[in-house]
Amino acid sequence: MCQAVDKPGFTLWFTGLSGAGKSTISGIVAESLRSRGHRVEILDGDEVRENLSKGLGFSKEDRDTNIKRIGYVAKLLARNGVIAITAAISPYRETRDLVRSQHQRFVEIFVHCPLEVCIQRDVKGLYRKALAGQIPQFTGVSDPYEEPLNPEVVVNTHLESPAESAAKILNWLTQHHYI
Ligand SMILES: Nc1ncnc2c1ncn2[C@@H]1O[C@H](COP(=O)(O)OP(=O)(O)OP(=O)(O)O)[C@@H](O)[C@H]1O
Ligand SMILES: [Mg+2]
Repeated sequence: MCQAVDKPGFTLWFTGLSGAGKSTISGIVAESLRSRGHRVEILDGDEVRENLSKGLGFSKEDRDTNIKRIGYVAKLLARNGVIAITAAISPYRETRDLVRSQHQRFVEIFVHCPLEVCIQRDVKGLYRKALAGQIPQFTGVSDPYEEPLNPEVVVNTHLESPAESAAKILNWLTQHHYI
């Protein structure tokens, strides 16, 4: 059996604004981990909202329910030796910290990108609509985003390429003997 498979699992929790780069970087990190023999699952915000959290909206209560569900599934995966990667905005610090407290091994990645750059990227065309008042409760525009105070890793996606951001995370995991 490959040595990597015997390592305990953990949760790699990406948080950041829409368009900051959570899905992009988590995909690169996941591929790299798989190629090293790790079992990896990605819980991506968009996919979770289509399945596990279908019907939930964007009130604080619904956002918290969504994040707690993601945290719960990640915890189950992680304790079974999987690297659970989550890629959801997860705007509330207290809720992220609650999920952290339910984990044995939890690595928070702050995907930092200034709002203006996310608006310029507007990958999904949602900022344009939010700024036009067509989407209520849009994170960063009309809803809060609380930056992590002590994340394990910060990537600055307005200054780095996706590959550089992914390498920074993989280096941290290696240095701290997670992989
Ligand atoms: N260093 C970087 N890391 C990640 N993405 C980057 C970086 N530099 C530029 N980008 C670009 O920024 C965009 C990030 O979009 P992505 O869908 O990954 O964001 P997201 O955080 O998952 O947003 P959402 O919360 O809406 O799902 C992509 O178009 C990507 O190519
Ligand atoms: Mg995404």
